[in-house]
Amino acid sequence: MSEMAPMGVRVGCRMIRQGDEAHLLPAEARSIAARQPAMRQASGAGRWIAHRLLAELGVDDVAVLRTPSGAPAWPDGITGSLAHDDEMAVAAVAPVGDIRTLGIDVEPALPLPDDIFALVATPADRTNPADRDLAGRILFSAKEAVYKAVYPLDGEVLGYEDITVDLNTGRATTKTGHRARFVYCAAPRVAVLAFVDGEAR
Ligand SMILES: CC(C)(COP(=O)(O)OP(=O)(O)OC[C@H]1O[C@@H](n2cnc3c(N)ncnc32)[C@H](O)[C@@H]1OP(=O)(O)O)[C@@H](O)C(=O)NCCC(=O)NCCS
Repeated sequence: MSEMAPMGVRVGCRMIRQGDEAHLLPAEARSIAARQPAMRQASGAGRWIAHRLLAELGVDDVAVLRTPSGAPAWPDGITGSLAHDDEMAVAAVAPVGDIRTLGIDVEPALPLPDDIFALVATPADRTNPADRDLAGRILFSAKEAVYKAVYPLDGEVLGYEDITVDLNTGRATTKTGHRARFVYCAAPRVAVLAFVDGEAR
C-alpha cells in the first residue's frame, strides 16, 4: 500500500494486541472514554501507528483526538485517517497540499455476504473482474474509505447509495459533488486508501 500511495502519503499497519489501549495518550483516552475495551484496544493500535507516522513528519507527542462526529482531529497542516477490523489497525497521514484529505479502511479478505452487498452496491458502481470473490468486499471498503476522505470537507453523512465507485479506474464520486481517487490491495487483507486532491472537486 505504501508503494501505491500518492507521493507524500505515509501508511502503516499493526496487528491489534492485548494492551494496545495503553498507546492512547491521556487526552486521546478521554476523547474515547465511553467505548468498549476491544474498541479502545483497536483505537490504541491505530494511534500507535499514527503517532509514528506523525513523528516521521516531524510532529511529536500530538494527541489525535476523537471528535464528537467520530472523525479524528489531526494537527494543523496534516490530514490523515484511521481504521481497524477485528485483527488489524491501519493509519495514513500526509501534509495538506496536493492531498486535501485521506480516508483509509481495512477489512478481512473474505467475500461480502450477499445481503450486505445488496445494501452497498448500486447499478452505477463498477467492480473489477480480476477481483472476483472479493469484489464486493473491496467495493464496501472503498465506500468506507471514500466516506472518511470526504467527510472532513463538509461534515455530510453519506450512505452507501450516495457514493459511486469504479474499481477499474480507482475513482469515486459522491452525491454531494466530491471526487476522490483510491488505491487498494486484497491480500493479506482488503485495504483501501482514498484521497481527495487539490483539483478533485
Ligand atoms: C466512518 C465509519 C464509516 C467508520 O466505520 P467503522 O467500520 O465503524 O470503523 P473503521 O474501523 O472503518 O474506522 C474507525 C475510524 O474511523 C474514523 N472515523 C469515524 N468517523 C469518521 C468520520 N465521520 N470521518 C472520518 N473518519 C471517521 C475514526 O478515526 C475511527 O477510529 P477511532 O474510533 O479509533 O478514532 C462510521 O463510523 C460512520 O460514521 N458511519 C456512518 C455513515 C455510514 O456508515 N455510511 C455508509 C458508509 S459510506
